[in-house]
Amino acid sequence: MAESKIITLITGADKGIGFATAKDLAKAGHHVLIGARNQARGEKAVEAIRTDGGTADFIQLDVTDDDQVKAAAAKIQADYGYLSILINNAGIAVDAHQKPSQLPIDQIRKDFEVNFFGLVRVTQAMVPLLRAGKPAKIVNVTSNMGSFGLATDPNSRFYQVSSLGYQASKAAANFATVDFAKELGDEGITVNSVNPGWTATGFGGRDESKPAIPGMQSIQEGAAQVVKMATTRSKQTLTFTETAGPLPW
Ligand SMILES: NC(=O)c1ccc[n+]([C@@H]2O[C@H](COP(=O)([O-])OP(=O)(O)OC[C@H]3O[C@@H](n4cnc5c(N)ncnc54)[C@H](OP(=O)(O)O)[C@@H]3O)[C@@H](O)[C@H]2O)c1
Repeated sequence: MAESKIITLITGADKGIGFATAKDLAKAGHHVLIGARNQARGEKAVEAIRTDGGTADFIQLDVTDDDQVKAAAAKIQADYGYLSILINNAGIAVDAHQKPSQLPIDQIRKDFEVNFFGLVRVTQAMVPLLRAGKPAKIVNVTSNMGSFGLATDPNSRFYQVSSLGYQASKAAANFATVDFAKELGDEGITVNSVNPGWTATGFGGRDESKPAIPGMQSIQEGAAQVVKMATTRSKQTLTFTETAGPLPW
């Protein structure tokens, strides 16, 4: 019997690491669903993938919007009946390395709304479709900034970093990986976290027209571990990795 087409939904896939991941997965034969809140940019991303010989569709998806997330799940159910891979990539960082004593609660909340609640909302909505698409995968794009192990290690460069909203929301996203992996592991759905690494996107308001700062990876390099975890045949679950290998939680 022919294997079913791999259907992969990526949130925040209209630019940056999400778009680079979408292009690579389309080249690997996945039918890619470009989740984006900006319709014009999302449709442009779909066109670029189709021009490259891949297949893709646009899905309107603001991860903070309950109705849009439910509508996205209903559309995937109606159009395909299942989902093979969910890549929770959408993310923001609005707290710009301010001291925790001076960081407005509203800014911390904004990071959490997208990076944690958005990820959990989309995952909960997609679990029934992933169950129908087994063996299935969830890849959560988190960050080394959310690693307790690195943040508390005086020998790590992350020991000096203070960005409470972003760090805590990404640590919480890692906890979503842990708990969903435990719930879904026995059902044939793997759940893993990936750190893309410091990457030359427009993330956090960086001006993309400026040359990459020394030490920054290309966007292609930033997508590499996400693509690897989305394409691996390994049944490994509950991991936190980057291109160089495993990371401490
Ligand atoms: N770049 C780095 O150095 C780095 C390092 C570690 C981890 N990461 C993680 O990698 C992921 C991708 O980041 P990136 O560097 O590719 O940044 P990016 O170029 O800024 O892309 C972020 C994507 O997330 C989307 N997004 C933001 N809020 C959203 C919402 N409410 N609903 C749906 N989509 C939303 C953005 O859409 P809009 O344009 O509409 O806002 C955009 O498509 C993030 O989770 C980030 O935390 C990045």
